[in-house]
Amino acid sequence: MKKSIILLLILISVGSYAQTSFQITCNPFLQNMQSNAVTVFWEVNKTAKSWIEMGTNSVLGTKVTHSEDGLIDVGNGIQKVKLENLKAGEKYFYRVCSKEITTLQGYKVIYGDSVFSQMYSFTMPPKPVEAFSFLVFNDLHNNASFVGNVTNSHPEFSFAVFNGDIPTDINDETNFCKYIFSPLSTAFATQKPIVMVRGNHETRGAASRNLYKYFDTPTGKYYYSYTWGNTFFLILDCGEDKQDANREYFGLADYDKYRSTEAVWLQEVVKSKEFKQAKFKVVCIHMPIAQKSIGAVADDHGTNDCGKKFLPILNKAGVDLILSGHTHTYRIIQKEKGFSTCPIVIGGAPYSAKSPDKTTYTKVEVSSKSLVARLMNLSGKEIDKVEKKK
Ligand SMILES: [Fe+2]
Repeated sequence: MKKSIILLLILISVGSYAQTSFQITCNPFLQNMQSNAVTVFWEVNKTAKSWIEMGTNSVLGTKVTHSEDGLIDVGNGIQKVKLENLKAGEKYFYRVCSKEITTLQGYKVIYGDSVFSQMYSFTMPPKPVEAFSFLVFNDLHNNASFVGNVTNSHPEFSFAVFNGDIPTDINDETNFCKYIFSPLSTAFATQKPIVMVRGNHETRGAASRNLYKYFDTPTGKYYYSYTWGNTFFLILDCGEDKQDANREYFGLADYDKYRSTEAVWLQEVVKSKEFKQAKFKVVCIHMPIAQKSIGAVADDHGTNDCGKKFLPILNKAGVDLILSGHTHTYRIIQKEKGFSTCPIVIGGAPYSAKSPDKTTYTKVEVSSKSLVARLMNLSGKEIDKVEKKK
């Protein structure tokens, strides 16, 4: 009798263990903060519909969902809701909410449990933005463990740029939240936005074609622009580093054509009023595009192609700073005749507890008169800097 009770208890506990409860598996993170809008992401582990409860105090009071063509989003995994009509300088409180859908048929929908995050807050940029700073990380290669220490030591920063090769590949897209967005959410991203830049490693893996689910950009593309204060940001997508025909891409790469299309877009953006009126112009691109300066190697075709297609446009338009990574060796390339007309700051990586000195981040401070980029080691010591005064 006793044996059968013990067996029953074991079966019950195994059964409940196997049946994972509906839960939030990645806390919220912000992207695409504009003057009056921001997009909130989070992840759940089952099919759900989601919404955000928000307000200007902890009572919340406003419910926001996302719909396309009249249909409210339903999906498993990453959830994405854009908050709009926000006011400059206002502090907003919010929590993310999801309700499981256990059956989704034409004439039958059955809801399951609901889950709610804790309450978070963010503050919209003031108008005008007088001065600001931002942080730049690159080549995390699935290790975001050190980012929280850096962001905690610079509490004044406005946003953080993740300048490519943040994962090593995207074979299992749940790893993207597990290793990247969850630590970033814990560090700062519930309150301040992430700016995502696609590097060459983001293009690799079975789920790389689903990467748009994790990005929200003003253009809906991986290349885009935005203005923050007096500064215009150009976020460029470098594509892959080798020839499209390289055997490592298995006949699935078409980046030469992609970069040509991107260059047409870039040519138009630098003609815009917003670009021309900005005091400072900053480019974020994963691969450093002044290839001669970093020592070209035979298979750096992608880097050379970026240099050939983007650099003449940037040089002619006049940009103040290019931020890159990719080489895993930190370095500042000052402007060089015949190549870049502005400095290129290359961040070091990837992080290793055994050799943290290889890893750097860049802190960029912008005021009404100057732009200063400081290449920093993980002890918070400045390694080198570039400064532009206007
Ligand atoms: Fe790279």
